[in-house]
Amino acid sequence: MMPDIVLDTYDEGERNALADAMDVMVRAFDPVYGEAWTLPQISGVMLMPGTWLTIARLDATPLGFALVRSVLDECELLLLAVDPAWRGRGIGDALLSSSLSTARRRGITSMNLEVRATNSAIKLYEKFGFEYVHRRPGYYRGNDGQLHDALSLRRDMMI
Ligand SMILES: CC(C)(COP(=O)(O)OP(=O)(O)OC[C@H]1O[C@@H](n2cnc3c(N)ncnc32)[C@H](O)[C@@H]1OP(=O)(O)O)[C@@H](O)C(=O)NCCC(=O)NCCS
Repeated sequence: MMPDIVLDTYDEGERNALADAMDVMVRAFDPVYGEAWTLPQISGVMLMPGTWLTIARLDATPLGFALVRSVLDECELLLLAVDPAWRGRGIGDALLSSSLSTARRRGITSMNLEVRATNSAIKLYEKFGFEYVHRRPGYYRGNDGQLHDALSLRRDMMI
């Protein structure tokens, strides 16, 4: 990752980074797949105990974010996104790596996620040791009404 990029982590109840996450969200997700979340959705999840948001910034400009929710010793990577103009430079890798480290520090033993079955982000998850759990048919609904399958992936922290 480029050296000047800084990652900051915000815990549940901290609302000041939500606008930065939305700034990236609206550009990062193709509406055709229905994967993006709205501000009320991320605000709501940021109120839940055990949630944290990591933002990657260059100077004050947000370039990417990761949103994780934990319950006891398990967590779920809810969202991972990088501004399309900044992809392929290691920012997604750094956000995922940071999310896994934070989870480990908090005593979490596994990370789960759902990803559209045709999303090239699966390559990134495989690189980090995530493994296929099952397929969820029609999990995402695109803006044209079309349904898209998701894969559930899991990374055991103990290995
Ligand atoms: C997935 C995403 C976060 C990756 O961010 P990024 O900053 O481009 O990723 P990186 O540059 O850190 O790449 C890390 C690794 O991911 C893999 N990867 C990422 N994007 C890829 C692509 N389009 N095709 C193939 N491999 C890809 C590569 O293995 C790469 O490792 P390498 O550089 O050693 O080859 C970004 O493409 C994105 O925001 N996508 C839209 C939102 C989304 O679908 N998020 C995931 C589901 S929530």
